[in-house]
Amino acid sequence: MSGPAHIIVIGNEKGGTGKSTVAMHLVVSLLALGASVGTIDLDARQATLTRYVENRRRRAAAGHALSMPDHEEVPPSGDDAADEGRFLAAFQRLRAAHDVVVIDTPGSNHPLSRLGHSYADTLVTPLNDSFIDLDVLAKVDPDSMKISRPSHYSEMVWETKKVRALRGEKAVVDWFVLRNRLSTLDARNKRVMERLLGELAKRIGFRLVGGLGERVIYRELFLDGLTLFDLGDGSGIEMSLSHVAARQELRRLVDSLGLARFAPAGQG
Ligand SMILES: Nc1ncnc2c1ncn2[C@@H]1O[C@H](COP(=O)(O)OP(=O)(O)O)[C@@H](O)[C@H]1O
Ligand SMILES: [Mg+2]
Repeated sequence: MSGPAHIIVIGNEKGGTGKSTVAMHLVVSLLALGASVGTIDLDARQATLTRYVENRRRRAAAGHALSMPDHEEVPPSGDDAADEGRFLAAFQRLRAAHDVVVIDTPGSNHPLSRLGHSYADTLVTPLNDSFIDLDVLAKVDPDSMKISRPSHYSEMVWETKKVRALRGEKAVVDWFVLRNRLSTLDARNKRVMERLLGELAKRIGFRLVGGLGERVIYRELFLDGLTLFDLGDGSGIEMSLSHVAARQELRRLVDSLGLARFAPAGQG
């Protein structure tokens, strides 16, 4: 018997940072550990996680053995109160039924996204290694190259702690920031980002976790509904050295997030 589930929210107010890609990889790693997983797509516009799950379902129906999450999407109807009701209904059902619920959110500050964030036990924020992406977390003073103040997404995360406290829940959320699409070039930019994120981590209370490299394979797997955790024997896709390296980076992420603790006893 599963539930109440641990809630993992993937969020960043900026689009294209790898939220949906990371969400799907965490979901499949949890399934591989033997956990039962519910998923919610709050990004109605792009619906990437929904498409990803649909593609996976199609591949499973074609005879491939693939474990599936229990997926819900909450497309907005234009009526915020009704949408909130539908989100809560889906959320309560999944939370009662599963070990973990993974919520993918849009790259915008939408009321439903804020509501989703307020239920996070674990928040994972993928961030591209660029000052443009860093800007949603903190303002950097260009002269001193130091953090001058936290910015809107960090403030939103802070606000959700208050919302939790108002509901009588523990205000703690384990917040992890993950650098994504790291290039093998541009060592200087990488070092500056590392220093700034290190400073910011202490200041606003997140943990920085080992990053994911820029790799074409992430874009290729989507249409088949597959993740790097599905590759290998019988997947029909041969693993290259780059794939192996990518999978190692993902395993490190799964370790850092402590996902193995959500596997039912005796598994994983
Ligand atoms: N590590 C990576 N290497 C290469 N491409 C990536 C990586 N992570 C994400 N992408 C690609 O970046 C784009 C945006 O990713 P997506 O997961 O949709 O981001 P978001 O959900 O934050 O908008 C997609 O084309 C995806 O395939
Ligand atoms: Mg997305």
